[in-house]
Amino acid sequence: MKNKKKNQNKPRVVTTKTVMTMKHTGEKIAMLTAYDYLVAKYLDQVGIDIILVGDSLGNVVHGYETTLPVTIDDMIYHAKAVKRGVKNALIVVDMPFMSFQTSIDDAVRNAGRIMKEVGVGAVKLEGGEYIADIVRHLVKIGIPVMGHLGLTPQAINKFGTYEVRATTKAEAEELLRDAKILADAGIFALVLEKIPAELAKKVTQSIPIPTIGIGAGSHCDGQVLVVYDMLGLTEEFKPRFVRRYSELATTMRSAFQNFIADVKTQKFPLKKESY
Ligand code: KIV
Repeated sequence: MKNKKKNQNKPRVVTTKTVMTMKHTGEKIAMLTAYDYLVAKYLDQVGIDIILVGDSLGNVVHGYETTLPVTIDDMIYHAKAVKRGVKNALIVVDMPFMSFQTSIDDAVRNAGRIMKEVGVGAVKLEGGEYIADIVRHLVKIGIPVMGHLGLTPQAINKFGTYEVRATTKAEAEELLRDAKILADAGIFALVLEKIPAELAKKVTQSIPIPTIGIGAGSHCDGQVLVVYDMLGLTEEFKPRFVRRYSELATTMRSAFQNFIADVKTQKFPLKKESY
């Protein structure tokens, strides 16, 4: 009895199985990105379900225009830092552009590196039907895969814009078909990015695994945001799907200004801040 009570207070360790179960229990899945130890630690401390080491780190950490330059070594470097801060959340790592599209062998080698060198729970791959064989193979050898459809930033040069995807009937049908194919291939969850809410609802009702939306409305089984966006650090980036829970860019600038002023006016350091 005592032991049972003790376990009830213990934070839940989230696995891909936990995430799949949440679709059926109706508990919404909360996912945010992280790229470093401290942010990952704070997310884990407050009970986030999934931490995504997204290749969005190319934009928000490294300042690239697109996610295309991000390498597998970049992903492993950041994922290792995240991993050191996490005890309970499921960590998912993005496979960057050209680390899996080239062949099943490359996908196995690179996903294998992420699993072996970092020790996370799953990888995420962007793409539809054309990656189904790769997904099937990774899942078969024991590497859980999260899918990603809709706005897939690695395909930016094909589409040319970051506008809402699958707005025509044909595109919506293709996305729904891709979602079913990926679910059949064995993905455990599917990110739906920037698609009409009604389409996301249809996909969510049509596949047995959870959908996690970003700009895909309220009917998905979970929601994800880029952590720097929701913290207000990427202040020029203002799509309607980003809700800002803080204004950290303003807070940071103000702290930096105060430090500069204190140094210039010799208000820092004080005696009590010296040895
Ligand atoms: O790279 C990323 O952060 C992502 C999320 C936007 C889902 O793929």
